[in-house]
Amino acid sequence: MRRLLVTGGAGFIGANFVRYWCKTYPDDRLVVLDALTYAGNKQNLHRLEKNPNFSFVLGNIGDRALVDKLLISENIDTIIHLAAESHVDRSILKPATFFQINLVGTFTLLEAFRQYLETAKVVNKPLFLHV
Ligand SMILES: NC(=O)c1ccc[n+]([C@@H]2O[C@H](COP(=O)([O-])OP(=O)(O)OC[C@H]3O[C@@H](n4cnc5c(N)ncnc54)[C@H](O)[C@@H]3O)[C@@H](O)[C@H]2O)c1
Repeated sequence: MRRLLVTGGAGFIGANFVRYWCKTYPDDRLVVLDALTYAGNKQNLHRLEKNPNFSFVLGNIGDRALVDKLLISENIDTIIHLAAESHVDRSILKPATFFQINLVGTFTLLEAFRQYLETAKVVNKPLFLHV
């Protein structure tokens, strides 16, 4: 049984991934962390609301305290990282936001997971998948 944190789970790839995973591996625990920006839509996940192995957390991947808390409280062993500023046109208009989310945000997640794994007791081999 895996314990997954899926960032950007309300987005295009994320929502499809989450629905697929929950259907295919119903015993796994899956937590979505999503800031619900212009690209996120919680409705994409509405069928999972009553699933006891699924939780949705509204938040930012750059919020280190929140990420730390989630990793520990959910005993996460797998991060599927899909949260991003993904619209190329917007990257031309507002490049700083892309830098902050896609680079600094990703680094925040990596660093939080690395430090967490120094002391965490996880059963499965840890996995960090960045799309
Ligand atoms: N869609 C594609 O065809 C495609 C192809 C190749 C690679 N990708 C990459 O895969 C990743 C996901 O793509 P997508 O199409 O699902 O993107 P998307 O824009 O549909 O979804 C991104 C999700 O991330 C969330 N998000 C944004 N900033 C956040 C933050 N700071 N904290 C938490 N959540 C945040 C948004 O609310 C949204 O739900 C991106 O890195 C994208 O570049 C996408």
